Amino acid sequence: MKRHLFAPRAIAGVAILTLCASFWPTWTEAQESAYPKPSFTAGGALIRPDVRYREWVYVGTPLTPNALNPPEAPFPEFHNVYIHPDDFDHWKNTGTFPDGTVIVKELVLVGATNAVSGNGYFQGEFSGLEITIKDSERFKDEPGYWAYFSYGHSYPLADTSEAFPTAACNACHEASAADDFVFTQFYPVLRAAKAARGGRVLNTESEEHQNLASLMMDKTADITQPTADTPIIESAIPTEVGELFKYLQEATYKQFTAKESSNHPSLGPHTKVGLPVRVFLDPKMDASLKADEATHPEGAGIVKEMYDADGNLQGWAVMVKTAADSEAGKGWFWYEITSTTDGSSPVAAGNGVPLCSGCHTIGKDFVLTKYPLQ
Ligand code: HEC
Ligand code: HEC
Repeated sequence: MKRHLFAPRAIAGVAILTLCASFWPTWTEAQESAYPKPSFTAGGALIRPDVRYREWVYVGTPLTPNALNPPEAPFPEFHNVYIHPDDFDHWKNTGTFPDGTVIVKELVLVGATNAVSGNGYFQGEFSGLEITIKDSERFKDEPGYWAYFSYGHSYPLADTSEAFPTAACNACHEASAADDFVFTQFYPVLRAAKAARGGRVLNTESEEHQNLASLMMDKTADITQPTADTPIIESAIPTEVGELFKYLQEATYKQFTAKESSNHPSLGPHTKVGLPVRVFLDPKMDASLKADEATHPEGAGIVKEMYDADGNLQGWAVMVKTAADSEAGKGWFWYEITSTTDGSSPVAAGNGVPLCSGCHTIGKDFVLTKYPLQ
């Protein structure tokens, strides 16, 4: 995918669409969790949590039966894996595991080998418990900040566990796990949550993400060009380019009552990932988002201010719906400019700009901002 980035001809809409699906707003609401996370002894051993982890989000059950791994599998036999609900939420929203993530793998022996449903492996008794925790402070020396714990493979389980040496657990996870030391390839629940984000995960540090940001600066690339005419409609935010730039410079949109209360780091490549942005909704868009409409009405629009690292305004991104039908982005007017004084060379200006609409297609009728506004 990366290879294609700077060869505009090769950038099929589909490629961009997949690529762009990796960007997604991730503001996690700070909220009290109903489920406590495991705690540590003063000496740094992890205390075995009570079994309420069985009420966390269940993600899958790898099975390594002893029968196929004689005389005994390293982790016999069923592995029921649970992730803390807060961490699952974060994964679902961003495709990343946050600092503090806890994943439990509970071992269960094969019980019966047949049932009225047929021959097979059926879960018998609980037999063991392993836990992994990502913590960039406590485990700052572990690769990926993941530490691994085990309470044994027979009952009664140990009450506490020291972190295993890196080579014992971490190294294999680092080498073979699909996502950030976690074997998501074997957890359909995590895979499905990731697929819902377009099958790709957010990694704002990635070279690919940064390349996309530079691509957005390349005003000559095909995908920055409009693919449809902009119809003349009534809208609070003008769609005629000269008029729009003046409107932005005069900051008329600041009169909208629906606006984010402060700047927050951008998750999209607008100017550069991580730089502050702030979103303003015109009344039509605000009403539509408030009513949780699946599609937004003609005339509804959004202005996003883009700041530099020092907090100086350095441009705007704008989208205005110009037809009831979004027509894969052609029913939207897209505009982005990275200057506050010179309106002559916008990054994009017009309907159906593939670069913009491709990425925004994962939004709610192309809108990615989280509502209610923060
Ligand atoms: C040889 C490679 C290997 C080693 C060594 C290893 N694991 Fe794993 N681990 C896996 C695989 C593969 C999975 C997923 C499939 C499964 O459970 O069989 C897994 C899954 C896990 C999970 C569930 C969360 C996740 O990351 O997918 C935990 C917890 C875990 N292992 C703990 C440990 C502990 C504790 C040790 C060290 C005592 C350890 N592992 C050593 C391969 C390994
Ligand atoms: C790589 C993905 C990506 C591309 C390409 C992209 N955007 Fe965005 N855009 C985002 C994300 C993510 C947000 C959510 C807010 C944030 O974090 O900046 C967003 C927010 C916005 C917003 C605020 C409203 C909303 O939907 O949240 C506007 C307006 C906007 N983008 C316009 C544009 C325009 C115009 C273009 C094309 C020049 C464009 N975008 C290209 C990812 C993208």
